[in-house]
Amino acid sequence: MSRPITGQTRVAGIIGHPVVHSLSPALHRAGFASLDADWTYVAFPVAPGAAHHALDGMRALGISGLSVTMPHKHDAALAVDRLDPASVALGSINTVSVDPDGALAGASTDGAGLVAALTADGVDVSGRRVGVLGAGGAARSIVDALARAGASHIVIANRTPAGATSAALLAPAVAVTGSVDDVAACDLLVNTTPVGMGGDPSLPLPASLIRPDHVVVDIVTYPLRTPLLVAAEQQGARTVDGLGMLVHQAALQEFIWLGEMPDVTAMRDAALRELAERGQ
Ligand code: ATR
Repeated sequence: MSRPITGQTRVAGIIGHPVVHSLSPALHRAGFASLDADWTYVAFPVAPGAAHHALDGMRALGISGLSVTMPHKHDAALAVDRLDPASVALGSINTVSVDPDGALAGASTDGAGLVAALTADGVDVSGRRVGVLGAGGAARSIVDALARAGASHIVIANRTPAGATSAALLAPAVAVTGSVDDVAACDLLVNTTPVGMGGDPSLPLPASLIRPDHVVVDIVTYPLRTPLLVAAEQQGARTVDGLGMLVHQAALQEFIWLGEMPDVTAMRDAALRELAERGQ
């Protein structure tokens, strides 16, 4: 599937810490291949606090695009030359591109990626009441995108109340803070916390609050079938795992870098193959 790397091959990559288990190289290389683009993609481990050095390196090395993951999303927003309006409000980015004048531009595709994944799954967020668990960088991007996509009411519950208040201010016309019970009173529930990740058996909300008419989304991708999604299935609810958001946010990054949408099915298949090879 991959083209030979030559002197003309453009390089993109991900900065994060850790990045050794990232699915992004598999996803993006499949996307580039679907566009027959002479681009490649690698993972760059960048120590916490060193995002601005990495972006200087991007300029010096002529790297054409970067994905940004934890813990650099906030620092990278401060280090780029310009931000799109949504990223100014979010205060974090997951994408760096190079404008024609050589300036580094920051954007966030996380929230739009989730909305695109839901749409592709037949879940229309327009007019829906959405409950969001957590208020970190991913949640903020999701709240912003849900409001833009026409969600009628967004309730944000967070362990630290100030975080929920700040996230709700991103969409003051529709978003409010609330309790886990208030979140469960919505139609669509989205977990953005790491609760249930990597073998943690905990749930971000009690299983008894999940109803058969809920759509339950977990953005955690390790494992894909989180304890929350297992509990939601047991309650008869519809579930959406985190792979769709991962694939669609990556596809939107390629659109920013190349101006064309890659084949999201090819990207999803590549991620599933990679997970199978790892025995996950
Ligand atoms: P991300 O970029 O993935 O959103 P983040 O910005 O670190 O990561 O945000 C993590 C979110 O998960 C936060 O809302 C955090 O709550 P706090 O604001 O109180 O820190 C939430 N979170 C993390 N661990 C949690 C836990 N054990 N229980 C509940 N919420 C948790």
